[in-house]
Amino acid sequence: EKGTYPHFMLKEIDEQPFVIRKIIQKYQDDHDNIKLDSEVRQAMLDTDRVYIIAAGTSYHAGLVGKQFIEKLANVPVEVHIASEFSYNMPLLSEKPLFVFISQSGETADSRSVLVRIKELGHPSLTITNVPGSTLSREANYTLHLHAGPEIAVASTKAYTAQIAVLAILAVDTAQAKGIDLSFDPLQELGIVASVMESLTDQKEEFEEIAKEFFSETRNAFYIGRGMDYFIVQEASLKLKEISYIQAEGFAGGELKHGTIALIEEGTPVIALSTQANVNYSIRGNVQEVAARGAKTCIISIEGLEQESDTFVLPHVHELLTPLVSVVPMQLLAYYAALHRECDVDKPRNLAKSVTVE
Ligand code: F6R
Repeated sequence: EKGTYPHFMLKEIDEQPFVIRKIIQKYQDDHDNIKLDSEVRQAMLDTDRVYIIAAGTSYHAGLVGKQFIEKLANVPVEVHIASEFSYNMPLLSEKPLFVFISQSGETADSRSVLVRIKELGHPSLTITNVPGSTLSREANYTLHLHAGPEIAVASTKAYTAQIAVLAILAVDTAQAKGIDLSFDPLQELGIVASVMESLTDQKEEFEEIAKEFFSETRNAFYIGRGMDYFIVQEASLKLKEISYIQAEGFAGGELKHGTIALIEEGTPVIALSTQANVNYSIRGNVQEVAARGAKTCIISIEGLEQESDTFVLPHVHELLTPLVSVVPMQLLAYYAALHRECDVDKPRNLAKSVTVE
């Protein structure tokens, strides 16, 4: 039930801090350490390469998960769009582990990959919000998202839950391999939950930005580098699917290789800067588009901010920034759709779970 909320999407955006706390609780033992199915841990230790398979928003979560697993646990990861993998299978490593990320657990494109890799005899793990779902039943192992039912077609809390569970999986693997991490992951996730709450408490700010940037426009660009590049891809998908504004998320450095030709007087460009190593260069990209007439806005994070930034996110661990930087993006899409009088929870042409290939 929506309760006092006008839309499920807004309710689900607001639920994200609770979902993160629930995940901490579900994946924590009595000594505040990570608790994970020992078979999943063993599968992660046994593999020489993880293949993440997913679609849409879950694919975007997979892009972030790759960073966690490679950077923390030192295991190579490939992320594939399910519908592409089915018809164009890459060369596989000797001991692949397939990780299916799916809110519904029913996505047909992902299932067809699962059927195929089972025939080949490879192990599989499904990360899903619906433990009894097809992808969960048919895979060897399941990790549950604990996000509660997601009703709005546009995925929000499942995306952040996926990222949190992927972080826990990566940290668990790192610890099992004896890699010393210099931070307490569950404690850092607790900080993330509080920051998410502070962001959902500032909705008016994002409503104002959405009005200013998206009321009139036909198109919009989001730019970011490194980790932020993955979040801007999700930001643009959210905007497209519910507000019908043509939007793209680009790697900041890639703009000058073609896309910058699309920048006109007043074209909205939203930049995200939460990563120290690219803070300088993404700001350079913003200047390049601003010089060509774009209407620009920078969302940054404490420690990297500049005075002119439109919004500064509170500090969280650098690897976990996607969990907080996506919240403004979800709210921007929500308010853009609301002010354009779109059907926020049930956008045209879309179904909540895509059960055909
Ligand atoms: C976007 C969205 C879709 C789904 C995609 C995969 O907001 O909801 O892109 O993410 O259809 O669905 P699942 O995760 O159920 O496999």
